[in-house]
Amino acid sequence: MAPWSALGMSWAMAMALARLLLALWLALAAAGGLEVEMAGRRQTVSLNKNITIICKVPGAPNLDIRTMGIRWFWKNQTSDLEKVFEFIGDHQEAIRPGATVSLWRLKRGDASLQLPAIQLREAGEYRCVVVVTPQKAEGRVWLEVIASPDSKLFWEQPTVNNKEEKHAVCKSSGFYPPNISIRWKKWIQKSAQYQEISENIFTERPVKNEDGTFNITSYLKLKLPVEDTGATYQCVIWHKSWPTSQKLNLTLPRGASPDSKLFWEQPTVNNKEEKHAVCKSSGFYPPNISIRWKKWIQKSAQYQEISENIFTERPVKNEDGTFNITSYLKLKLPVEDTGATYQCVIWHKSWPTSQKLNLTLPRGESEKTPYLLYLWILSIPVVGLILLPLYFVWKGRYRDRWTSGNETY
Ligand SMILES: *[C@@H]1O[C@H](CO)[C@@H](O)[C@H](O)[C@H]1NC(C)=O
Ligand SMILES: *[C@@H]1O[C@H](CO)[C@@H](O)[C@H](O)[C@H]1NC(C)=O
Ligand SMILES: *[C@@H]1O[C@H](CO)[C@@H](O)[C@H](O)[C@H]1NC(C)=O
Ligand SMILES: *[C@@H]1O[C@H](CO)[C@@H](O)[C@H](O)[C@H]1NC(C)=O
Ligand SMILES: *[C@@H]1O[C@H](CO)[C@@H](O)[C@H](O)[C@H]1NC(C)=O
Ligand SMILES: *[C@@H]1O[C@H](CO)[C@@H](O)[C@H](O)[C@H]1NC(C)=O
Ligand SMILES: *[C@@H]1O[C@H](CO)[C@@H](O)[C@H](O)[C@H]1NC(C)=O
Ligand SMILES: *[C@@H]1O[C@H](CO)[C@@H](O)[C@H](O)[C@H]1NC(C)=O
Repeated sequence: MAPWSALGMSWAMAMALARLLLALWLALAAAGGLEVEMAGRRQTVSLNKNITIICKVPGAPNLDIRTMGIRWFWKNQTSDLEKVFEFIGDHQEAIRPGATVSLWRLKRGDASLQLPAIQLREAGEYRCVVVVTPQKAEGRVWLEVIASPDSKLFWEQPTVNNKEEKHAVCKSSGFYPPNISIRWKKWIQKSAQYQEISENIFTERPVKNEDGTFNITSYLKLKLPVEDTGATYQCVIWHKSWPTSQKLNLTLPRGASPDSKLFWEQPTVNNKEEKHAVCKSSGFYPPNISIRWKKWIQKSAQYQEISENIFTERPVKNEDGTFNITSYLKLKLPVEDTGATYQCVIWHKSWPTSQKLNLTLPRGESEKTPYLLYLWILSIPVVGLILLPLYFVWKGRYRDRWTSGNETY
């Protein structure tokens, strides 16, 4: 016979009373007789991860969880103590959404708290209060939430027309805490080692993102042409979320970035039915390049991709190892939309974004061109008619002189 039925209580009433006693015990009893183990004084976890804050009753083989109570609390330097999670006699409540304690593990004395998708603002002190009636224990740990930077290193042309400078850009984003170190090195062929660069470096202050993480950008400015064109530059990033520095490499091959131009070309002088827009990029390396064509659509006020009548040659190699490429856009004349703007969009890995060149078909040019051509073609017989008699006259005289000269022999 259960003890509570002897006292005339229902099972539910008994459970409620047991919970009340456990709650009182959790709140009021002095810790003692029981110990919990945490992950030392400080536990470091990564932002957005599902984490477990460790709290274990050592040497507890099999516990009756109905006689157990757990409370987890949180506070930081400035906030008050807040309850995060509670488990009392088979009843659990997650104040922090998603907070759980595995009941299966709890039977073995493991009261560790699981928190999905931990955020930076949740860093702070976590307190684990455990009652295994009639004993109580309390443990504390400082939870530190960190985020690793996501880094990339790329070339940037300060402006399209600036042919005298090139920037290596090292960009790290989404890290916390904001303390980070970015250094630059250069591979020295002679000594076969990386040497620290100390000049022409500009590192911005870290900027804060909405989620509390930071971004930082560092620039290494190079004067062009760089003497050592095959040089390798290295961006060395240190952040406490990593055991060692991260190293990113960037090589400057000779004439890495394409030099591009866009112009009109008449396929042949006599072809008055076609006109070609020519987009020519030269001196780039590696040979991977993308050239696309767009047309300005007045109606929708936007550029629209052109997919027809495009002919792009295969890249041709130059003596210095760089490549040239030419792409043609063939237009039938007369073009209906004579004020149209055509755009050649070039992407090469030496740039972070595409380069865009514009070319406008002058108004009325499509009508003018055939007339100019007719004029030119018509002029051939006219000029011929004038030149022919002159030629015969000249030939006659020359021949006379020649033959008379011959006669002297
Ligand atoms: C403590 O937490 C509160 C509430 O989340 C937050 O507003 C405050 O900035 C935190 N203080 C510190 C020092 O992290
Ligand atoms: C983290 O927890 C959430 C919800 O608790 C779950 O949907 C998700 O799959 C978990 N992610 C990992 C990596 O375990
Ligand atoms: C930080 O970097 C990320 C990734 O590059 C970007 O999406 C975000 O807009 C940047 N934040 C700020 C404040 O610049
Ligand atoms: C982080 O930076 C601050 C100020 O820049 C400095 O006082 C602090 O010691 C740094 N912490 C670490 C761990 O480097
Ligand atoms: C950069 O170069 C160094 C030395 O050549 C090498 O150890 C390192 O792995 C390289 N890093 C990357 C990301 O390729
Ligand atoms: C060129 O780019 C394509 C895809 O963008 C890739 O599959 C190919 O390996 C690249 N080739 C070289 C030589 O980089
Ligand atoms: C590549 O383009 C450059 C500049 O326009 C030119 O001088 C060179 O002759 C071209 N090379 C080849 C192989 O066509
Ligand atoms: C080409 O036109 C677009 C939009 O009209 C403009 O944003 C871009 O700067 C132009 N490019 C050049 C090289 O003028």
